[in-house]
Amino acid sequence: MNDNPFSKQDDIVITRRKNPKGEYAHLNTSELLNAVKESAHSTHRADLDILLEIFLDRYNARQDELDKLNYELAQRVELEVQKSEANHKRFEQQAKMAAMGEMMDAVAHQWKQPLNALSMMGDLLVSDYESGDLTLESLKEMRQDMQVQIDHMVTTLREFRNFFRPKKKEETFGIKRSTQSVTLLVKDEFVKNNITLRIVPEHEILIYGNENEFKHLVLNIINNAKDAFNERNIEKREIILDFTKDKKFTYLTITDNAGGIPEHIINDIFKPEITTKPEGKGTGIGLYMSTQIAQKLGGILSVKNTHNGAMFELKVPHVI
Ligand SMILES: Nc1ncnc2c1ncn2[C@@H]1O[C@H](COP(=O)(O)OP(=O)(O)O)[C@@H](O)[C@H]1O
Ligand SMILES: [Mg+2]
Repeated sequence: MNDNPFSKQDDIVITRRKNPKGEYAHLNTSELLNAVKESAHSTHRADLDILLEIFLDRYNARQDELDKLNYELAQRVELEVQKSEANHKRFEQQAKMAAMGEMMDAVAHQWKQPLNALSMMGDLLVSDYESGDLTLESLKEMRQDMQVQIDHMVTTLREFRNFFRPKKKEETFGIKRSTQSVTLLVKDEFVKNNITLRIVPEHEILIYGNENEFKHLVLNIINNAKDAFNERNIEKREIILDFTKDKKFTYLTITDNAGGIPEHIINDIFKPEITTKPEGKGTGIGLYMSTQIAQKLGGILSVKNTHNGAMFELKVPHVI
């Protein structure tokens, strides 16, 4: 009599079959698991070793694949990071060039009038001399007038040079004074385009950051409004700059009545190279650069359409 419940198993002869590995190799994972279950209760228990080996082989193969994938992924990420850094540099460079182009245009416009005046005075001098009307008195007066024109040109040039050789440092500056200096730069150009630029607040609000960059941001936005006015032949053209503050933030809004941002790009306009302007005119870099500047100021730039135009808002924290 045999009381041992396990004794029955002793009767089972465990045999190793000739080439079961080949038999199992084509099975998929769940079939393999079934084979494990079956062989555990059969005389082929020795197959368990072989099955385990197959599992291990497959696991190792998978692991190798995974390692390879991980390695490739790491390389791809590295490459993408490099690419995006290169793109960022390229966009920055393009933005500088675009800003420079816009500035050069503005200089040219600002200088046109005084240059014309100077040229006219030169002609006048000659004709006064020829007609015998030239006195020392009138000559001195003319020289005074010429000096006024030249001073005007020098002032503009100085302002522009500040733009091109920006001070790197951050400082506390007044929004009103700063936006006034931008509007002064583009005054002639905007008058020529029939655009009224209005700075609403009487008071000054101070913010902190790189003032030249801030001026670029404002310039980008008002130049875009100018383009929109011209593209759409708007009659009464107005850009309003307003600023306020609450407990935590200062808000600068720049509102135009140029018809608004086209709906299909409004969600993307702060991305680089988004433009609706023809090649050579638009780069799509201006607003991208402006958001970067807003971030450097610790703030955010956003936009929405009003009933008849676009309204940009720069929100920055208070000077501590
Ligand atoms: N005030 C605005 N009114 C209407 N559309 C605007 C205005 N400002 C920007 N946009 C749109 O946003 C686009 C992107 O502007 P921006 O980044 O400055 O690039 P760019 O001026 O070179 O096109 C413009 O092409 C224009 O379609
Ligand atoms: Mg632009």
